[in-house]
Amino acid sequence: MNILITGGAGFIGSHVVRLFVNKYPEYHIVNLDKLTYAGNLANLKDVEKAPNYTFVKADICDYEKMVEVMETYHIEGIIHLAAESHVDRSIKDPFTFARVNVMGTLSLLQAAKVYWDTLPERYEGKRFYHISTDEVYGALELTHPEGIKPPFSTTASSSEHHLAYGSEFFVETTKYNPHSPYSAAKASSDHFVRAYHDTYGLPVVVTNCSNNYGPYQFPEKLIPLFINNIRLRKPLPVYGKGENVRDWLYVEDHARAIDLIFHKGKDAETYNIGGFNEWKNIDIVKVLIRVTDRLLGRQEGEDMDLITYVTDRAGHDLRYAIDSSKLQRELGWEPSLQFEEGIEKTIRWYLDNQEWMDNVTSGDYQKYYEEMYRGR
Ligand code: NAD
Ligand code: TYD
Repeated sequence: MNILITGGAGFIGSHVVRLFVNKYPEYHIVNLDKLTYAGNLANLKDVEKAPNYTFVKADICDYEKMVEVMETYHIEGIIHLAAESHVDRSIKDPFTFARVNVMGTLSLLQAAKVYWDTLPERYEGKRFYHISTDEVYGALELTHPEGIKPPFSTTASSSEHHLAYGSEFFVETTKYNPHSPYSAAKASSDHFVRAYHDTYGLPVVVTNCSNNYGPYQFPEKLIPLFINNIRLRKPLPVYGKGENVRDWLYVEDHARAIDLIFHKGKDAETYNIGGFNEWKNIDIVKVLIRVTDRLLGRQEGEDMDLITYVTDRAGHDLRYAIDSSKLQRELGWEPSLQFEEGIEKTIRWYLDNQEWMDNVTSGDYQKYYEEMYRGR
């Protein structure tokens, strides 16, 4: 099978590319990425020479190029992750988010349709898998600020911290209600994907996942930003009171779910992905400080005074909480890591890969592409 993975040089995409290249030597994996500030080929050093891997530098908004790539590589399956992904950037520059997330997705959908329509078997054995976010559902109430035992059990949350901060959860049928330009653009792209199924019969599948954490995340997002700031003893800017709740999933567990759904998910279905692992931001920040201090040989908790409460994010969603029981029930997926294990592994990775961190924060990783791929 020839599979196109878009956004494969980004955080989640690089884990998906690595998993597919290593697990499926019989597939040809084409990683298509524009290499924006968030795309970094150093994330994929370990697979870049694999015989079943090809990198293409391109913009998903370039429709002609998308048709050319579909034809050149005889693409049969698409896993679409390329997007602008940071809420704070979307507040400053909403146009870019609409262009990339909405028009880019549309350009890819149309290219897939046009190419597959030329084949005798058309959509038979084809799949367009769109990766989306729980943020399209909007925000949930925080009805239990102290936390309650959730109605679900999971291996992702530890026994000590297995709390829900409200009684409602996002399910696959929850009405879309996005609040940020990022989530509005992702919601719009989800609608286009479903419209291509309902109108043209394109074989699509959509998943909505909760917040991911793990290695190779660009350090503008909470967890890598704060780990690096703790290391450098820089202030930790907690938005508002730090009471907002996010539901965290280890990135490799997301990649495993993507693999399973790509192969076994039903056409035109939506699956929510999450580990029932809700945390208030301020509690996460305290865990990050304690573990990072310990791993750096400092006294555990000595960096608590780096916490700095700053003006809240505009339109800051209060609580996200995903109910992934459909995926667990129908396809047998479950998260493999408890949060304490995953977060320690993650912190260790960032501390052991300071060169990666220093490169991405200085912009030097852009040069990597120039050196590695020019003229190839
Ligand atoms: P990321 O910002 O780390 O990576 C995005 C990648 O897309 C980068 O490699 C970038 O170069 C590429 N890209 C951006 N614009 C492009 C364009 N016009 N053409 C081609 N490539 C382009 O993002 P991420 O956190 O890895 O998220 C990947 C996907 O997963 C996104 O669709 C996001 O909405 C979704 N998602 C993310 C999370 C999360 O917690 N990070 C959770 C749920 C869903
Ligand atoms: P982020 O990692 O940007 O992901 P998202 O907005 O997609 O959930 O932020 C996670 C949470 O952390 C969110 O509630 C905003 C908060 N946050 C801070 O308090 N300070 C920061 O510097 C950042 C980047 C995020």
